[in-house]
Amino acid sequence: MTAAQPSAAAAADLAEAAFAHCVFPLTAADDVRRDGPAIYVHGEGVRLTDAAGRAFIDMMSAHTRANALGYGNREIAAAVGEQLATLHYIGTAANLAPPTIRLAAKIAELTPTPLSKVLFVNDGSEAVESAFKLARQYHVHTGKPRANKIISRWNAYHGATMGALSATDWLDTRHIAEPGVPGHSLIPGPSRYRNPFGMEDEAYGEFCATYLEREIQHQGPDYVAAFIAEPVMQANGVQTPPDGYFERVREICDRYGVLLIVDEVITGFGRTGAWFASDHWDIQPDLMTMAKALTAGYVPMGAVAARAEIVDALPVFRHVHTFSGHAGAAAAANTVIAIMERGALIARSRELGAYMLDALTEAVGTHPIVGQVRGIGMWLAVDFTADRATRAPFEDDTVAAVVRRMHELGVLASPIGTAFEMAPPLISEKTDLDFAVEIAARAIDEVARERHLV
Ligand SMILES: Cc1ncc(COP(=O)(O)O)c(C=O)c1O
Repeated sequence: MTAAQPSAAAAADLAEAAFAHCVFPLTAADDVRRDGPAIYVHGEGVRLTDAAGRAFIDMMSAHTRANALGYGNREIAAAVGEQLATLHYIGTAANLAPPTIRLAAKIAELTPTPLSKVLFVNDGSEAVESAFKLARQYHVHTGKPRANKIISRWNAYHGATMGALSATDWLDTRHIAEPGVPGHSLIPGPSRYRNPFGMEDEAYGEFCATYLEREIQHQGPDYVAAFIAEPVMQANGVQTPPDGYFERVREICDRYGVLLIVDEVITGFGRTGAWFASDHWDIQPDLMTMAKALTAGYVPMGAVAARAEIVDALPVFRHVHTFSGHAGAAAAANTVIAIMERGALIARSRELGAYMLDALTEAVGTHPIVGQVRGIGMWLAVDFTADRATRAPFEDDTVAAVVRRMHELGVLASPIGTAFEMAPPLISEKTDLDFAVEIAARAIDEVARERHLV
């Protein structure tokens, strides 16, 4: 038992207090009643211990994929502590502390070339909101004063605040929030393995790019401020775009004076084996959003990187958050980036991710209930099917049951629509990944047999 380990009685009290007082976002009340809240008390590296003393390896980087450097990193904790003791917070607007300025310069260096100005916020949703406002205010000052519309994609996830949510189509959050912010429309985006039109992946990618052009024409180019896209869509698990898709998107946006916002909130800072997923396809965004692994989850922070001409066009950017650019969060981010550079963790993500993808494909790729295994860097998905010929998804809870079984066997993964995903911390060892693959294969086969699917 570690110092943080509660007694059985204290653990039961914690669970009771959680039921009584905590709201569980995005979690069905029945599921919490059945499984209990997941209360973890200690983490070290990729290992977690829950309140009952059970050990897990966390292949989700803390559920949200933010915890890219694992648990218990004392270097980050010390950097934050030192900054808090030196100057924890000095307001916002034009008030800045040195770590915040250094971080802006570093982000400008790491992001694709045209992005050289950085706006700080507190999370991914605020980054998306801020990118929309930068885009809209830019057009007001550069000849498209009525450009307020934002185009996003079916199944996109861009956040929970009203603007970001209006560009979102995933996690069943849209309908309950409608009517959302006016001016948003959604179009198809490329996906792997299956799509609503039954097209081949490459042809569907072409179709989706053409659809963007049609949508801009339909909305009226003078009214469209921006198109936003995740470079690798999370819905139904790690949807890499076909080659050429973003090239066409860039051309179309340029043709109609529409800004391209690339949402790198999940993919930024090494998740896909590059600093940013944009690097894989040489996407040159106008605005890029980031959060999560920026601070590896140690302190909340988000940011928008922008082309200088967008920011420079505004006499004043009319938008602010109290804690933008918080010095303690900037100290965390600077340390995270230094650790990633020192440990060559981006290359490690690329190499270990390829290793795990091979191992996972080998272990489960031909299983009768597995449709496709895919991934990029340290982000992998197993997409399931009830019928390999038609690629029909399971309509019941088979995917969730596989993830529950993995949890029982000591590995944390997440169901995501028709698939489950794993997003291991970039510091994982090969032995951790081997164990996760072994448990995934065992869980898939056990659940399939119990349900008479094989
Ligand atoms: C691509 C993307 N954009 C935006 C967000 C919103 O970020 P946050 O939850 O930090 O507000 C998320 C969150 O998962 C995301 O995955």
